[in-house]
This record gives sequence, structure tokens and C-alpha cells, in this order.
Amino acid sequence: MPITPEKRMDLLVSLCKRRGFVYPDSEIYGGFANAWDYGPYGVELKNNIRDAWWKRFVQMRDDVVGVDTPIIQHPKIWEASGHLQNFSDPLVDCKKCHHRFRLDHLLEMEKADRCPDCGGELTDVRNFNLMFQTQVGVTQDSSATAYLRPETAAGMFTAWINVRDTMRKKLPFGIAQVGKAFRNEITPGNFIFRTREFEQMEIEYYTKPADAPKMFEHWLEEQKTFLFDDLNIDPAHLVFHEIPEKERAFYSARTVDTEYQYPFGLKELHGIANRGDYDLSQHAKFSGEDLRYLDPETNERYLPHVIEPSWGLTRLLFAVLLEHLDIDEAPTTEKGGEEERMVLRLPAKLAPVKAAVLPLQKKDGLADIGRDLAKQLRQSGLVIEYDESGSIGKRYRRQDEIGTPFCFTVDYQTKEDQTVTVRDRDSMSQERVAIGEVADWVKSKL
Ligand code: GAP
Repeated sequence: MPITPEKRMDLLVSLCKRRGFVYPDSEIYGGFANAWDYGPYGVELKNNIRDAWWKRFVQMRDDVVGVDTPIIQHPKIWEASGHLQNFSDPLVDCKKCHHRFRLDHLLEMEKADRCPDCGGELTDVRNFNLMFQTQVGVTQDSSATAYLRPETAAGMFTAWINVRDTMRKKLPFGIAQVGKAFRNEITPGNFIFRTREFEQMEIEYYTKPADAPKMFEHWLEEQKTFLFDDLNIDPAHLVFHEIPEKERAFYSARTVDTEYQYPFGLKELHGIANRGDYDLSQHAKFSGEDLRYLDPETNERYLPHVIEPSWGLTRLLFAVLLEHLDIDEAPTTEKGGEEERMVLRLPAKLAPVKAAVLPLQKKDGLADIGRDLAKQLRQSGLVIEYDESGSIGKRYRRQDEIGTPFCFTVDYQTKEDQTVTVRDRDSMSQERVAIGEVADWVKSKL
């Protein structure tokens, strides 16, 4: 059933709270703007997206390895990377209502003359550095200013030599990392789209300089496969935006942003850049270390070039939820007829709960059989739910709303022939499966 963009956003935000995906943070203190808690289903979904990414890009490949580096690293890194000098947004304030805006956003909206909220006069532009500062050390004297990382990438540049030497990797090879990043955004908002604390999944892929354009193509295609095959995102909802030279960072030989059709417009979901040898040459300069690669084929020493595919994990989770939220008609068991049902048509691999076990009645031993089946499925490694309370129709609706692909119902026939009914979330069709085969049946669908 078609859903307008505004309605999709409203439905999703309320579903996220009602069903335990994403809650406003610090609610007991009146809330903390633009901070969000991932609830029980949100954290499962986030982990499943992360795991699908890690499996595809790290575990299934011979040429990428993972690391996990600190959020607070040596402060000099941010001098070398240029973040201390340049990681800022142009900021203006309204002199009347004191609302704060990013000048580039106002220019995009062609509203940079006056305050778009009250028409008041705007202050002069000043650059606002987005990095969060902190002090490291126990005493005032010994403490040093450090920064929460604004991206996970840096750790994969500083670990380059250790990984290269310990993993005996030859070019081309990549280093991957998933973790938190922090930016003191001027205009956070749109639910979890732009937040000050978020998660990234990034790869720094090191290649011979001459191969970088070819590798860029390869990695761009790989991101598309991830979007289409693992996340089941409709290509019609995406734009692969080639960033023109004048808008790219000065060191980037090529950048493509993947934009998703969010309810509030086409917005960046992912970026891939050919960063040349900018990062390694900067870190070599600031650290004094020789970061060059000794090519075993030619005996030459050179700095590899880097292709960097970069995802915002939390922004991607938002897109996955929006993409798979649907409303259709379902039969009502109580009154007969049909009623609207909300359903998250998540790919089974991503669903927070893979299957639910629902005894038709608590009595007559059906609940005992259900609990045994639930235990068996948990022991087989599946994330499942057991639910025996409320009407079967209401229990189905709840599972539909959290995206559970399969519901197994224990009924009176189960006692006779040791089979259960499995109901498919999307088609709502039902078939019977032998109780001893349920775990394998579910696994065959993942
Ligand atoms: N290392 C490259 C880099 O960090 P970026 O375009 O600044 O590039 C990469 O960020 C991705 O991180 C973006 O495409 C977006 O998905 C995500 N991201 C960036 N800022 C974010 C924020 N404030 N909140 C949520 N996600 C964010």
C-alpha cells in the first residue's frame, strides 16, 4: 500500500519507540536532544547489518582484514589528517531568535540573507570545528588535549604498518573497522540521520597507484551488491552521485556518494573516495616514520593509494527500516474481514528475531510443546521469541511489526502428528513442518 513520505517517517519513528528499536535517550531526565538509545530489536538489527557487512567485506575476502582501534588516539593524528585545521562547518546565528544554522544549508535553500525561522538578521560567518575535545591525564599539569575520533578511518592509517608486517599482506589489501565516531554537528536531526554520536563501517583499501581507478570501480560495484543483495534496497530509491571536481576534497581523485531517498529528501548514505596517498604521506610527515611499501616484484618503495568506502551504520539502519516498512491488508481472526497491518519486510538474515513460537492455547499441553520447541531453536543458535499470551492474531501482528519472518504455531494437530504450522510474514501463507525439522527449515531460509 503506498505510504506518503511524511506518513512513513511518522509511522517509523512511532514504531521504533513502541516496538523497542530506537528510544529517545535520557527520557527520565526530560530527554537529551538528538541522542538515541537502541532498544532490544534495534541493537539486534544493527548487529545483523554490521555482521552482513563484516562477512561480505572481511570474512569472505582474502584481501581485507579487520582492526579495532581506540576512539581517543594520539592528538597529532588530527593535525596530520587536517581535521584540526579544516574539519569545520560555516556557522551563522540569528541575532533575534538565536537559532543556529549551517551556512551551506541556507545557501542550498537559497535563504542565506535572513533567518529562515524569524526573518532576523544573521551574524557573520565563523568556522566551527566539529571535533569533541577532552583532556587525557589525571592532573591539570600532565593532562593533554585529545579528541574523540570524528571518523574510524584514522586508526586504519596508523595501524597500516603493523597490519602489513604481521599479516604478510601484499598489495592490494584493505583494513576494515566498525565503531563509534563523534561530531559536534551544528544541525543534528531527522531522527537518527544526523547525530553527534554515530557508528561507521569503513575500509581503507591500499593499492598500487596505477591500479587505484580500477579498484575504485570494483569497490563501488561491491557496495551496490551489498545494498541490493544483502539489504534488499530498491535501486529506484538510490542515486550514485559522482561528485564534481570542484566539490571534492583537494586530495580526492574521485568521489561517489550513494544517496538514499529519505522522507525528507535525497541524502547521503555512503561515500567512496579515491584518496590517493594523501593520508599516508601526511602521517609519514607528522610521525617521521617511513610508511612506504616495498614492492616485492619491482623492489621499488612507494606509498600505496587508498580507496575508502565509508558507511554510516546508524544512518544505514534508518534506511533499511524505512525501505522495508509496509502496510497491507490482513485477515482478522476475531471479526472476519480484513484490517490494515503494519509489517517490516526485512530480509530474513537481518531480522532481529528469526522465528516466533506461538502455542494456540496455553492449556492442554500446547504451551509445554511450544516451550520445548523454543528451547530447541535457541540451542541451535537462532534468535527466537516465545509468546503465549493474547489472541493469535495480535501475536502475529506484533511479530509482523518487528519483522519476524516466520511464526510457528503449536496446535491440536501437533499432538497427533508432531507437526507445527509455519506462517510466512510476507505472504501470510501457511504450511506444516515436522517439529524436529523446524531449526533446519528456518536456517535454510536465512
Ligand atoms: N572517512 C570518511 C568519512 O567519514 P563522511 O562522508 O564524513 O566520510 C561517512 O562520513 C559516512 O558516515 C556518511 O556517508 C554517513 O553515512 C555517516 N555519517 C557522517 N556524519 C554522520 C552523522 N553526524 N550522523 C550519522 N551518520 C553520519
